[in-house]
Amino acid sequence: MSERSAEGFANGFPQTRLRRVRRHDWSRRLVREQTLSVNDLIWPLFIREGDRQREAIASMPGVDRLSIDLIVEAVGEAVALGIPAVALFPATEAKLKTPECEEAINANNLVCRAVRAVKQTYGDRIGVICDVALDPYSSHGQDGLLRDGYVVNDETVSMLCRQAIVQAEAGCDVIAPSDMMDGRVGAVRRALDDAGFIDVQIMAYAAKYASAFYGPFREAVGSAANLGGGDKRTYQMDPANSDEALREVALDLAEGADSVMVKPGMPYLDVVRRVKETFGAPTFVYQVSGEYAMLAAAAQHGWLDRDRVVLESLLSFKRAGADGVLTYFARDAARLLG
Ligand code: PBG
Repeated sequence: MSERSAEGFANGFPQTRLRRVRRHDWSRRLVREQTLSVNDLIWPLFIREGDRQREAIASMPGVDRLSIDLIVEAVGEAVALGIPAVALFPATEAKLKTPECEEAINANNLVCRAVRAVKQTYGDRIGVICDVALDPYSSHGQDGLLRDGYVVNDETVSMLCRQAIVQAEAGCDVIAPSDMMDGRVGAVRRALDDAGFIDVQIMAYAAKYASAFYGPFREAVGSAANLGGGDKRTYQMDPANSDEALREVALDLAEGADSVMVKPGMPYLDVVRRVKETFGAPTFVYQVSGEYAMLAAAAQHGWLDRDRVVLESLLSFKRAGADGVLTYFARDAARLLG
């Protein structure tokens, strides 16, 4: 007996059965709208000083700070897996952090040495992205220079331009301003062009929110304690806003950004969708440290199936319109997709 008559749908109701195409795997694959691929992944890595040093980050189980030699090995894994790019973040030694952030413009600082090592080893087989912001170098943990307790814009932008130049000189392919100062994309673009780096890209952290989800990252780079009770609300965006995100993106694109980013990721999928639909520009999203921590911790407890939530969360970014995702799960996802 057919299910239809058994269920009493004698009048042919329902006319449309959306379950029909879901019945078999071949059919589900045929009607699938989005796919996640290794080409969508950017892998953020944390760098520390030393040789053969691997140091766990308590709030990011499975993510370590690596000395440059181990960073080179990790990037080798990324190359082998086909991950298109890595983003390098320095955990600067506390003694090098100062109010004026001089270490940010030291051409031999940790991140510049790491970029040189990676580029010497792999050349153009993988892209290297570096943040431009002062928080890895500031004794106060803020992304810019402090004057009377306020992060000043224009003086900070001058420093960011110098920081971008030392990173480009080291071989960085993509400069990613993550500071949220006004006018920084245009200023950095001009500085790069004037220095001859016309092909160094800018990936702007365009819609970056003042988010509590950055907590584990600040532990990872050692800026949490320096920031103390402080926050970044005078420059990062209010989580209540999304029209403002479009204005940020519009400005960054007008100032010469090659691609834009929304950050954090999962709580801001609506913003990803609006940005992609409005501008049609290359749009990235950052599944940030706190998002990683939530999923990784629940998986550690056996409360979530790690592999499945990793792929589902990354697919959600594609569905929202993102072209790619910065994610601490990049290596795991690449292996699962491989
Ligand atoms: C630095 C920066 C932050 C992140 C990326 N670049 C932290 C912050 O703005 O406080 C967060 C990334 C993450 O949480 O994974 N400006």
